[in-house]
Amino acid sequence: SALAIPIVVGIVVVGSFERRIAFYSKSFDIRVCVVDLSKKQIDAWNSRDLPIYEPGLREVVDQSLGKNLFFSLDIDSEIKMADIIFISVNTPTKTQGIGAGRAANIKNCELCARKIAEVSESDKIVVEKSTVPVRTAQAVNRVLECNEKGLKFQVLSNPEFLAEGTAIADLMKPDRVLIGGNQSPEGLKAAETLVSVYANWVPREQILTTNLWSSELSKLVANAFLAQRVSSINSISALCEATGANVSEITRAVGMDDRIGKRFLNSSIGFGGSCFQKDILNLVYLCETYGLKECADYWNQVILMNDYQKKRFSEKMVACMFNTVTGKKIAILGYAFKKDTGDVRETPSMFVVRDLLLEQAQIHVYDPQVKREDMWAEMDYTCDLNPSTYTGLESAVTTSPDAYAACDGAHALAVLTEWDEFKELDFEHIYKSMAKPAFVFDGRNILDHDALRKIGFEVHAIGKPDPNKFSDL
Ligand code: UDX
Repeated sequence: SALAIPIVVGIVVVGSFERRIAFYSKSFDIRVCVVDLSKKQIDAWNSRDLPIYEPGLREVVDQSLGKNLFFSLDIDSEIKMADIIFISVNTPTKTQGIGAGRAANIKNCELCARKIAEVSESDKIVVEKSTVPVRTAQAVNRVLECNEKGLKFQVLSNPEFLAEGTAIADLMKPDRVLIGGNQSPEGLKAAETLVSVYANWVPREQILTTNLWSSELSKLVANAFLAQRVSSINSISALCEATGANVSEITRAVGMDDRIGKRFLNSSIGFGGSCFQKDILNLVYLCETYGLKECADYWNQVILMNDYQKKRFSEKMVACMFNTVTGKKIAILGYAFKKDTGDVRETPSMFVVRDLLLEQAQIHVYDPQVKREDMWAEMDYTCDLNPSTYTGLESAVTTSPDAYAACDGAHALAVLTEWDEFKELDFEHIYKSMAKPAFVFDGRNILDHDALRKIGFEVHAIGKPDPNKFSDL
């Protein structure tokens, strides 16, 4: 745009770990270098085999790598050179100590601040990109202030709103960019510098500036509201199954009210991913910390509803299959927490698989992007199930090369991730290859249920009336 002042800045992104592609500049005036402690990560980013799958990512990296985008292990000298430093390290949920299981651990943010204070030789803008508890900027600022060189740092908050699977699209055309800073003249000037970076490709009116605390808190609030919508519609799906109402018809009717809107109202087996559960628990913990018990309980209910939805699905599968799945082959189509990603963190599929394993089913998983080792690592981390400590686990789970192999001879198939390719499967062929009665459990409501019933399947979906149980008046 005509307003954008070309500025030459160096930007360092410290920690490529979490939302790793959180920053990208289309402008060649800006040199972006991502630094990380992990040699494995940096090598992977510099190779043909990127460490994560994301549609369009390869092209973005190919366009810029070696021109204005670099990945490096040389943290100190990159910090020295940079004008703006993004802290994009992970802030995992604490596993022990105060707030265990809920509070975010900001240790890595503090370590970055200490490193920046230690090696910097000039004034810099330090941007919090990681999702952090409100008032983390105060801690970062306090550490930076303690540098013994009289350097001045300005701390900004610039939370990342991109979603996995659509990360590049979200990055190119964000709904908004949020920048929080001190309301002092120096703070406003720093915020304006970051605004002009984004203004290279984002319209000015979509770049919001706020105080630090609003910006930090907005990220948790946005995720909590999105997750709440999913839990709200999922609570209604249970009521639909009990009454003969159809959740898709309800979503349509309710979503056409433009005050409500139709996005994020798809009923499912529950939400997953690295953000929703973690951020809500963090919000709950923050509410408690400030003595706001009712607020904490209110948001905690979103999590309880999600746990209920996952459990309800696996219990329904067992109940429908004559109360036993012991020794039965079950095909699991989709393991990622949503389509177009290989990410399995907090994936609802894992909880369904765990419950079925406890019922001694034989599980055959097919997912186009998930690696077997990632599946086990998350199962071990979240569910404390590890094939080396639980005998028989390794052989109870097969990872199949395709959906047909997974379904061959199975008593049931369950769609747990909404991959587009599952809609295109040859279900006549699958039906013939399965044990009878052949069950379909559609945990994402993506299949054509009438067509499947015509073929002969017994179909169960989320929030859909069972035609054997309910009929018109
Ligand atoms: C989320 C936020 O959307 C993003 O803005 C933030 O930066 C990070 O957290 P992400 O975790 O990548 O992004 O996935 P998202 O698309 O939000 O989906 C989260 C979960 O909700 C998935 O498991 C998805 O399947 C589920 N979901 C989403 C539903 O069950 N129904 C819906 O209608 C929408």
